[in-house]
Amino acid sequence: MKLGVFDSGLGGLLISKSIAHAAPELDMLYLGDTLHLPYGNRSAQAIEAYTRRCMDAMFARDCSLVVMACNTASAACLRRLQQDYLPQHWPDRNILGVIVPTLEEAIDHGATNIGLIATNFIAQSNIYEEELQKINPDVRLQTLATPLLVPLIEQGGDKWLEDVLRDYFKAFDLEAMQSLILGCTHYVRLKNVVRSILPDHISIISQDDIIPRKLQDYLNRHPEHDLAIGRTGLREYTVTDLTDFYQSAANSLFGETVNIEVINT
Ligand code: DGL
Repeated sequence: MKLGVFDSGLGGLLISKSIAHAAPELDMLYLGDTLHLPYGNRSAQAIEAYTRRCMDAMFARDCSLVVMACNTASAACLRRLQQDYLPQHWPDRNILGVIVPTLEEAIDHGATNIGLIATNFIAQSNIYEEELQKINPDVRLQTLATPLLVPLIEQGGDKWLEDVLRDYFKAFDLEAMQSLILGCTHYVRLKNVVRSILPDHISIISQDDIIPRKLQDYLNRHPEHDLAIGRTGLREYTVTDLTDFYQSAANSLFGETVNIEVINT
């Protein structure tokens, strides 16, 4: 069987790459729901419907465990999928989210005032605030919706990112902030530019640094998945729609031609 990595688009490739780097032998299937991207500007109903179809496709393709790298999908439906959909349809499989591990990482850094940049959907859902309340209600979260970032990243608009980020960051109390969470898989791409803009006292919490470690912890605690996932280094990259831009972005990310298959979900 395989480890699945799910996202709406390019961000999931960044996470897949970091997992592959940490565990090169792990058999892995990536699915990007590029046909329906951006998830962050859609309704909860639409995100859940798309995500369920993608989960079905990944489990049908023999994923034992899926990392739901997409923060937006995690906010919209992770709990319901774990509580209702999995027991009914795929009782021996599991889906892991990224929001709680990300908050835990920020708190482990000792932050008591945390910034969050995320999609519209995440910001409006309050999911980070809700989870933070359970972990440590004394920590303050400054949340900012940054909906222009995913389209710029997906469409090759890198040269505008710095200006857009500088403008967004005006809304933050940066003096009080100790850590900034990049609360979207796509924002892994922003690490360097964010670092160059933010004051030095703010640490950057990026999910490509967190997920491989948290995944390994989970596998250590869950031998049923650890043993089920093959270790032949298999890599399958699938999307629901493939453009020339996406193909060349994937090639440049991995430094080689990536074989990407288009699947129907
Ligand atoms: N990559 C997704 C996330 O982590 C969001 C991108 C999108 O809007 O589709 O939230």
